Amino acid sequence: METKIFKDHEEQSAAAAGYMLEVIRNKPTALCCFATGDSPKRAYEIFVAEAKRQGIDTSHCFMIGLDEWMGIPTDNPGSCHRFLHDYLFIPLQLRKDQYHLFNAFPQDADKECETMNEVIAAHGGIDLMVVGVGLNGHIGFNEPGTPLSIRAHASELETITKSTGQKYFPAKVEIGKGLTVGLLQVLESRTLLMLANGAKKAPVIHRAVNEPISNSFPATLMRQHQNSYLIIDQEAAASI
Ligand code: F6R
Repeated sequence: METKIFKDHEEQSAAAAGYMLEVIRNKPTALCCFATGDSPKRAYEIFVAEAKRQGIDTSHCFMIGLDEWMGIPTDNPGSCHRFLHDYLFIPLQLRKDQYHLFNAFPQDADKECETMNEVIAAHGGIDLMVVGVGLNGHIGFNEPGTPLSIRAHASELETITKSTGQKYFPAKVEIGKGLTVGLLQVLESRTLLMLANGAKKAPVIHRAVNEPISNSFPATLMRQHQNSYLIIDQEAAASI
């Protein structure tokens, strides 16, 4: 994993957007898997603006959401579904046949995950993976202790994930399980970007970079990926 440190969140986001654009420029049919949340938001805005400015054709790529909160309606502004529509799918004018998201209300969660696995396999694996990192080191909703061999699955969320997750919602919600693309698929992606910014992420980035590589802090696993970039601002890098 290469670590790239930028002056501030704006420069960090612009750099992340640059990597994203490069993947699609080199492979217009790329399968892209995107996290939601505060870390990638600005990078997505810049990505969309630059794709338009540079005339990069996104009409052949396919996008999937990294995860979803089970039981949260799609019209809730805190849902991953809504976030990805607002920041990527709508501004890029993606057709409905260009993306796939977890259904937050699956009749059968295993089947829902199997469908995600099939979509990923049908595209020959993930070309671009953009992840943030949780305060407990989670990647997507792969919480500490998640097996490395796991594909998409329903995840029991830790208390810290449920409490931190409230920040995305306009009113308090009851958070249950999460649905997530699995660690195996994250690690098998061809290009992996891990984004973090701000002082509150400094202890997390310290652990991600310095602790032994282990699923007890999933962010450390990203170090074993052959083409991964940790893209952070100076505040998040403060304790490296
Ligand atoms: C969200 C996701 C989560 C977040 C992580 C950091 O789709 O996959 O793992 O990336 O919780 O969240 P932020 O970026 O809001 O600090």
